[in-house]
Amino acid sequence: MTDPGEFMASLDAQLKPYRGEFPSFRRLPADGLPRDEVAGLVERLAGLEEHRWRDGFASGAVYHGDPGHVAFLNRVYAAQSQSNPLHPDLWPSAAKFEAEIVSMTATMLGAEHVTPEAPVVGAVSSGGTESILLAMKAYRDFARERRGIAEPQIVAPVTAHAAFDKAARFFDMELVRVGVDADFKADLAAMADAVTDRTAVLVESAPSFPHGVIDPIPQLAALAAGRGVGCHVDACLGGFIVPWAQRLGYPVPPFDFRVPGVTSMSADTHKYGYAAKGTSVVLYRGRELRQFQFYTVTDWPGGLYLSPTFAGSRPGALSAECWAALVSIGERGYLDAARRILETGARVRDGIAAIPGLRVLGDPLWVIAFAAADGLDVFQVMENVGRRGWSLNGLQRPAAVHIAITLRHTRPGVADRFLADLGSSLAEVRASPDVHTGMAPVYGMAASLPGELVRGMLGAYLDLIFEV
Ligand SMILES: Cc1ncc(COP(=O)(O)O)c(C=O)c1O
Repeated sequence: MTDPGEFMASLDAQLKPYRGEFPSFRRLPADGLPRDEVAGLVERLAGLEEHRWRDGFASGAVYHGDPGHVAFLNRVYAAQSQSNPLHPDLWPSAAKFEAEIVSMTATMLGAEHVTPEAPVVGAVSSGGTESILLAMKAYRDFARERRGIAEPQIVAPVTAHAAFDKAARFFDMELVRVGVDADFKADLAAMADAVTDRTAVLVESAPSFPHGVIDPIPQLAALAAGRGVGCHVDACLGGFIVPWAQRLGYPVPPFDFRVPGVTSMSADTHKYGYAAKGTSVVLYRGRELRQFQFYTVTDWPGGLYLSPTFAGSRPGALSAECWAALVSIGERGYLDAARRILETGARVRDGIAAIPGLRVLGDPLWVIAFAAADGLDVFQVMENVGRRGWSLNGLQRPAAVHIAITLRHTRPGVADRFLADLGSSLAEVRASPDVHTGMAPVYGMAASLPGELVRGMLGAYLDLIFEV
């Protein structure tokens, strides 16, 4: 299976299960198909794929998913499906929705505690990655124009999301990755050592994707402020949970604009904001930094052009249904959802810790990473759990697996089923430690194979997605 050819063949089977089962189109059909038939095909495909996420077998992925909530979002989407925020003259409702999404998110994240000279402002983007890219581009251009830094750097713990690598590559910045401490939190001293005259921004997570732990944000923000650099808190994953965890008395440090040195944040409405996929919020302390995100063209024959994010035309319907999610759930709804998720997270964390042979990494709240002890292969455990229907996330450096608890897991019986399946999967590995199947050897080898080879395999995977 470590042979790249064999790897691709197994991916082909996994990625293209509908070959021969459903009609496929290499070119436009000469005559269009009847709408009922087309919609029926789409609905059948959705039906085939629904049960795993609906029944709580997925890590993250679908964060709410109750049929009533989904139907409500779909109703709102349908009402606004033609809207495009690029044309606020035609759809001023889109500007209303987006201004209020930004304001509600900013207020939740401490905007009422900042000084009036530098209010918290922001924009709605298409997702966490875009929010991060936008912020990093803003810091790059701010560093070049205001601080005279020709080659700005991003300083981030190794655990900060891959979107920061993407930003550095896209915007020709240097990303300085810094090791974390034994609890997988940013190492303050090492971060301080990494800051140079070229540093544009220091990055931290609340919490990090891999291990679900929150970096020491007050200390890092103080470091950033002391050195005169930006400080971005990536709360894509936790922006809509951590404020309520604080309210519920969980021991989490200040992490948002209440912390003086924090200059920007990303928070995903399409995760624990319970909107449909396709929205996130990026926030800045002060209007000046946001100006470096915006794009305007004044001399184009096509007219005066202005867009706040990377896209031109955008789906206004997604902003409408994001707004609808926020105002229909409200503070009490988010608080209650966070309570259920955090309680289930604690049960799952303690349940995993109680399984001999597994070890929980760090001190997480609801995104729980675990490694295997006794020389057992944690990726084979993930593979075996996968055969029982579960879709978990494989991590590396160190080898581990995580589950991000969502509302799907808070329903009766789901957490117990997970712990039972995990226990029996581990028992299988213990009984046959030399059996390596499916993706387990690939994950196991990825950290030791040459980067070029792994990059080639990932590129081939992306090629495969677009094969009919
Ligand atoms: C901490 C963190 N940042 C950024 C992202 C990127 O978000 P998206 O997948 O919406 O682009 C994620 C996604 O899981 C995340 O967990």
